[in-house]
Amino acid sequence: MSKRSPTARLCYATCPPGLENILSWEAEHLGLEGIRRGRGRISFQNKGDAALRAVLWLRTAHRILEHLFRFPAGNRDELYAGVVDFPWEDWLDRDTTFAVQTVGTTEQLHHTHFSSLIVKDAIADRLNQRIGGRPDVDPQNPVFLVVCHLDHGYCTLSLDTDGHRLHQRGYRRVSVDAPIRETLAAAVLLWSRWRADTQLFDPFCGSGTIVIEAAMLARNLAPGRHRTPACLEWPTLRSQRMKHWAQLCADADARVVEQSEWLVAASDRSPEAVAATAANAEAAGVRPWVTCSTSDSRRVDYRGSGGLVVGNPPYGERLSTFVPARELLEQTIETIGRTGGHSALFIVPQELELEFEAQRWLMMRNGPIDCKAIYFEQTSQTNRRMEIRSTNEWSSSRTSRTNRPSSTKPLRW
Ligand SMILES: C[S@@+](CC[C@H](N)C(=O)[O-])C[C@H]1O[C@@H](n2cnc3c(N)ncnc32)[C@H](O)[C@@H]1O
Repeated sequence: MSKRSPTARLCYATCPPGLENILSWEAEHLGLEGIRRGRGRISFQNKGDAALRAVLWLRTAHRILEHLFRFPAGNRDELYAGVVDFPWEDWLDRDTTFAVQTVGTTEQLHHTHFSSLIVKDAIADRLNQRIGGRPDVDPQNPVFLVVCHLDHGYCTLSLDTDGHRLHQRGYRRVSVDAPIRETLAAAVLLWSRWRADTQLFDPFCGSGTIVIEAAMLARNLAPGRHRTPACLEWPTLRSQRMKHWAQLCADADARVVEQSEWLVAASDRSPEAVAATAANAEAAGVRPWVTCSTSDSRRVDYRGSGGLVVGNPPYGERLSTFVPARELLEQTIETIGRTGGHSALFIVPQELELEFEAQRWLMMRNGPIDCKAIYFEQTSQTNRRMEIRSTNEWSSSRTSRTNRPSSTKPLRW
C-alpha cells in the first residue's frame, strides 16, 4: 500500500517549569520559527530540519516532540476512539517498533499506565485493520515513542523525535550522589551570562556536570552530537531525515572551537567526585580544558577576577538538613569574596535563606526538589561587571518580586 507523506507541522521542546525563557532564547538563537512559550515547554514550527536542529543544539530541552493531533478525551472510550481514528498507517509499518508514554491525567483517566495501554491498543487495532499487522512494542528503544499528553479533558498525541530524554548526553560514565541534570546545568550557565573567555570554578563539582557543560558551551560542542535520533528510522521520512542529520552534524563539527586559552576549574572535597569529574570530562571530549583538584570549598584559591564561581552545594530533601549546607555555603561565599573578584551562582533549595542578598534569582525544579538559582554579581568595588551576553532578559527572574527570596544582607566584595 502506498503511504501518504505524513507531516507534523508543530514541535514542542519541553523543559522543567521555570526554564521556559532560557529555552525560548536558545530556540530563537538557533533560528527556530514561530516560537511560543507555554508552561514547561515552548512550541515552534516544524519546518525543514527544525526538529533535528533542536535535538542537536538545544542545551536546555528535555524532549523534542512532533505534534500529531489533539482531540477531546475525557474518558476511556473517547481516548480509544480518537486514537483509532488517526491514520497511523501513514507513519508506522509492521516492521518498526513503538511504545506509548502518558503524561498527565483527566477526571476519568487518572492512571497514566492505563491511558498508555488504551493508546497502544488503539494504534495496534488500527494497524491490524489497515495493514494486516502491527509493530512490536519496545519500551526501551522504540523507533516511535508516542507521547500522550492528557490535560483538561483533551489528549495531545506527539512523536518523540529522538526517543530519549535529551539530558542524557552520554558522557556521565561515573556518577555521584545528587548529580544535577545536564540540561539544568546548561540553563543556569546561560542564565548567568558567563562568558567563555573568563574563568569558571565549580567548588562542589561532584560528577562534573556544570564544568563539563561550561566547557561544551565554550567549545561550541553540540550537546546532541553523539545521538542517533529515533526519527532517522521513521519509514516514510527516513531518507530526508538521514540527509538532514548528516548535514547538521557536519556543520556542527565545523563549528567546534579548538583554541584552549580558557580553563574551567573543578574541585570537591571528595577524591572520588574529582575522579568522576575527570572521567566524565574525558568522555565528553573536554578533559584538556578542565582542571581537577581535591579541596574544601572554603579553601579553594579563587584568585582572579571577572569570572564565575558556580555550583550546587550539598543539600538534603528535608528542611532539617539545610542548616549545615547553609553554613558551608555562607562560608564559601565569604571566601570567594575575600580572595577573588568573581560573580557567584549557586543552586539551592527554595526554602534556603542566606544572610546575603542575591541580585538575581530563578525558580526551578532539580528532579523532585524545588530549587532556585541565586546570583551574586561582583560589585562596583572591583568595578568590573560581567558582560551581558544578549539583550534578552530572563523576565521571570528579573521582574517578579514574589520570586524574591527573603534574604537580608547585601553581599559586598
Ligand atoms: C549536590 S553534589 C554536586 C553535584 C554536582 N553538581 C554533579 O552534577 O554531580 C554536592 C557536592 O559537594 C561536595 N561537598 C560537600 N561538602 C563539601 C565541602 N566542604 N567542600 C567541597 N565540596 C564539598 C560533595 O562531595 C558533593 O560532591
